[in-house]
Amino acid sequence: MIEVSNRASDAFENEGKRAYRARHLEVLRDQAPELWTDDPPGRLRGAWLELMGSTGWRTLKLLTGANVLSPSSFVGADLDHDRIDDYRRRYPDARWLTGDVLDHVESPELHDVSVIHFDGYEAAGSTKFDHVGEQLGVILRRAVARHGAAALLVNSDLDATRLHGQQPPAALRRQAMTLAAVLAGASTARREVTPETLLPAGAETAVGSRGFVGLLGAFEVYRGKNTGHRMACCRVVLR
Ligand SMILES: C[S@@+](CC[C@H](N)C(=O)[O-])C[C@H]1O[C@@H](n2cnc3c(N)ncnc32)[C@H](O)[C@@H]1O
Repeated sequence: MIEVSNRASDAFENEGKRAYRARHLEVLRDQAPELWTDDPPGRLRGAWLELMGSTGWRTLKLLTGANVLSPSSFVGADLDHDRIDDYRRRYPDARWLTGDVLDHVESPELHDVSVIHFDGYEAAGSTKFDHVGEQLGVILRRAVARHGAAALLVNSDLDATRLHGQQPPAALRRQAMTLAAVLAGASTARREVTPETLLPAGAETAVGSRGFVGLLGAFEVYRGKNTGHRMACCRVVLR
């Protein structure tokens, strides 16, 4: 049975977020055949990196429940030490990292990561992504070399951009430009990643309408709660 929490009080534990997590698997199955094993069938190659918060265990349950991953191939990270200590007690077979994961890209826990779910809720288009991208690029390059492919799932807060004096369309375009720069450095020449491959030219105007949710290129714009900010998740497979 699907558990549905109170949308009014929890931004991450609700039906919208559950559907969002499930779509990661749909996209990976559809777009990244290299990342799935034949023997045993239906298992993900490599490890999954997740920013945890209080609800990242739901991703762990989704992956292990669907037999896509064993717990030992799940790496959970969070800035909050107590939170990670608690997770370590609850799920001792998974791998756990405390502190800024961007400072740990060379750590052994991350050596075989093939999927990064970077779900930090930064504002879309934030300059923070410049640094995030540089560091995640290290993991992605390693994954492409090791597994032949890598997937990056980056979630950002689309409507928070207004608080930073930027309108959602401009923020989404900037997000596409930043991610394309990171990804271009991490993929091989076989597939060029440009801002337009992530977000077709002009597509960003759609998010100027506050009611818009849906797919725009590699971005999914969704609402995690009935009322509240829209999120923009970019899902990209690199080769
Ligand atoms: C929105 S929550 C994650 C939700 C979870 N992925 C889920 O599916 O429910 C974001 C968490 O990411 C953590 N975080 C943000 N940036 C981080 C970083 N650079 N390194 C480690 N943790 C980070 C924050 O501490 C926060 O608890």
